[in-house]
Amino acid sequence: MRALVTGAGGQLGRTLARVFATEEDVVPLARADLDLTDEAAVRAAIGETRPDVVLNCAAYNAVDGAEDDPVAALAVNAFGVRSLAHAAAGGDAVLVHYGTDFVFDGSATEPYREDDAVNPQSVYAMSKLLGEWFAESARHYVLRVESLFGGAVLEAGADGRRFGSSLDRIADALIDGREVRAFVDRVVSPSYVDDVAAATLALVRTGPAYGLYHCVGSGQATWYDVATELAERLGVEPDIRGIALGDLKLRAPRPRFCALSNRKLAAAGIEMPHWRDAVARYARIRRRMVRR
Ligand SMILES: NC(=O)c1ccc[n+]([C@@H]2O[C@H](COP(=O)([O-])OP(=O)(O)OC[C@H]3O[C@@H](n4cnc5c(N)ncnc54)[C@H](OP(=O)(O)O)[C@@H]3O)[C@@H](O)[C@H]2O)c1
Repeated sequence: MRALVTGAGGQLGRTLARVFATEEDVVPLARADLDLTDEAAVRAAIGETRPDVVLNCAAYNAVDGAEDDPVAALAVNAFGVRSLAHAAAGGDAVLVHYGTDFVFDGSATEPYREDDAVNPQSVYAMSKLLGEWFAESARHYVLRVESLFGGAVLEAGADGRRFGSSLDRIADALIDGREVRAFVDRVVSPSYVDDVAAATLALVRTGPAYGLYHCVGSGQATWYDVATELAERLGVEPDIRGIALGDLKLRAPRPRFCALSNRKLAAAGIEMPHWRDAVARYARIRRRMVRR
């Protein structure tokens, strides 16, 4: 199987390229190699590399920035996916695209399932929802992920610093003994990029029905819970201050409750590890890096 990875410079893209490379033929294309907003370039890339599967990790992820620049967000998250889906369909490739929990409004009290009603509350969320819909013109898997962490570990220097995701930054602060501010009222299902990549590989290999799947760390937690668990696993004395969503003036609204249910993926034979297990594995890597 040949896999083409777009957005291969990002945290999930790097991880997918690494995980697929252990077993499959991989063509990783970072933004400098393939800009998703260039429709002709997208067509050419698929025509030249002739992949069996396209793993789309390219995205405009600046949630607040999208409020000020909706065109930029739509160009990548919606119309870029449309170009990719058309090109994948033309080249008879399967498209794997990654969606987000932000398509929900966060008013639920139980983990969202794939058939729950969406209600995006921000430009970013709307652009990602359009991307899900545009992906449907190819044979596709849309995997909704959330609160990704761990991918930047690959890029870390000897001191282990250079992290991008919220959890990576929390780990940095905990290790440095700095105060961490964490939401007590935002509930998520933190997703380790290694687990999402392993699930993606299993999915394209086993080939269950095409469509939409939630693919997150199992279970749910507030960011405060996650920071506390991480501190324990890192073996550090934490200084964690609980904050509420309302304490921050964020440009784009965040959904309050956004745990997702993996039940459909599990029914397809792919079990996602619990977020606590993922945090423990991640903390082991971070501890090793600190000791270096
Ligand atoms: N991170 C999360 O917590 C989270 C949550 C829910 C869903 N997701 C989704 O999961 C997927 C992977 O996210 P991630 O965290 O790995 O994102 P990431 O680290 O921000 O990586 C995204 C990559 O896309 C590239 N990119 C941006 N515009 C592009 C364009 N026009 N053409 C080609 N590449 C472009 C970026 O390049 P530059 O760095 O050069 O801009 C970056 O390397 C995305 O679909 C994202 O929306 C992520």
